[in-house]
Amino acid sequence: MKISLISWSVTQLAVLTGIAKAQGYEVVQTQLRDTEHSLQNLLQEVAGNVLVVECNAALQKKDLGELERFISEKSHIVVLILSENRDADTLVAAMQSGIREVIFSPPDATDFAAALKRVAQRKEIFNDEVKAQAKTVAFVSCKGGSGATFLATNFAYILAEEMGKNTAFLDLDLQCGDAVYYVSPGPSKSDIIEITRQIERLDAKLLASSVLHVAPNFDLLPAPEEPDATYNMSASALKQLTDIVRNQYDMVVMDLERVFNPMTTQALDTADVIYIVMENLLPFVRDAKRIVAKCRALGYSDHKIRLVVNRYELNGNIDITQIEKAVGLKVSYTIRSSFPDVAKAINTGVPIIHVNPKNSVVDVLRTMAEEFATPTHSKQASWWDRITG
Ligand SMILES: Nc1ncnc2c1ncn2[C@@H]1O[C@H](COP(=O)(O)OP(=O)(O)OP(=O)(O)O)[C@@H](O)[C@H]1O
Ligand SMILES: [Mg+2]
Repeated sequence: MKISLISWSVTQLAVLTGIAKAQGYEVVQTQLRDTEHSLQNLLQEVAGNVLVVECNAALQKKDLGELERFISEKSHIVVLILSENRDADTLVAAMQSGIREVIFSPPDATDFAAALKRVAQRKEIFNDEVKAQAKTVAFVSCKGGSGATFLATNFAYILAEEMGKNTAFLDLDLQCGDAVYYVSPGPSKSDIIEITRQIERLDAKLLASSVLHVAPNFDLLPAPEEPDATYNMSASALKQLTDIVRNQYDMVVMDLERVFNPMTTQALDTADVIYIVMENLLPFVRDAKRIVAKCRALGYSDHKIRLVVNRYELNGNIDITQIEKAVGLKVSYTIRSSFPDVAKAINTGVPIIHVNPKNSVVDVLRTMAEEFATPTHSKQASWWDRITG
């Protein structure tokens, strides 16, 4: 455990360092606060994986705002604060900012040591390999109408509703995206372009107020309602957006437009898994081959790619073996055509699990979602016990 300390006094820094070291923890950095500089300046320098910040009553609100932004950007660092106030308002505000614990200031040695011990027991934060960020997947359509948006939205919905994953859906089909209508009555008050226009001030709070809450565990950032050739999102804006979104959710599902540009490449880079959605018709096979080749050229391993054959009907069409041979990759999932239920779901904006939970499309989507069904820690769980130590 590598601790960074920020305090108003040299004596306090020395005392806290002494307590931490006596417990066998490493203090990698101590920083002294003063009233002329904002906390933010010191936060930029923070090292280690645990940060302890001494607040004072006069500046507490401002400190919490700055810490909230810091936490949303550096979710791997656990933050504790020392505060003269431990009333309910302070505790709630600290919890909302993502602070792990509020320790009474000045702390007595036993309390501070106990708080550090509780943090140390959360072993996962000390493994630098473990990312707290959400698993992220991208859906790419081979040709228009492959069913990528229908599958992406319904896959996300199953993750949220049946698997309890706190899921965010990003509609990155900026010109023609209409994912919002596949799982809700739509439209939404805000869209993904509006958010990336304010990317510099985007934080967890602004994100929460901008997303459309489709279902209890399912939030969606829609594409703009009207197509406009000027819509553009830079790779860096998308990276900033996904960094924040991935800190707030368990799963992120992205629906991509069918062009390779800096934004889509960034999305593919970010994705842990890429679903390439196709049909068993020659034009789709040709495009699947191109997309797989592009993914390989971008350096992605085949383990990251899942070929999904949608609306699969043989009827003399190309079969799975022929597809695999032509594309040079195993088909991961085959989904049968199921027009009546799919049409009903799309026409009413109701997820297909509610139209017909026994539909064969639902079976495959569940299998796809099960890949991500590992237990997750609820980011909201028992926060009161946690924050009060
Ligand atoms: N398994 C299926 N069975 C029957 N119809 C399906 C199936 N999957 C998708 N469809 C139909 O295919 C149509 C196109 O789906 P969707 O809009 O999801 O495609 P897309 O790949 O996202 O297209 P675009 O590239 O234009 O965004 C939808 O109208 C839907 O009804
Ligand atoms: Mg689509």
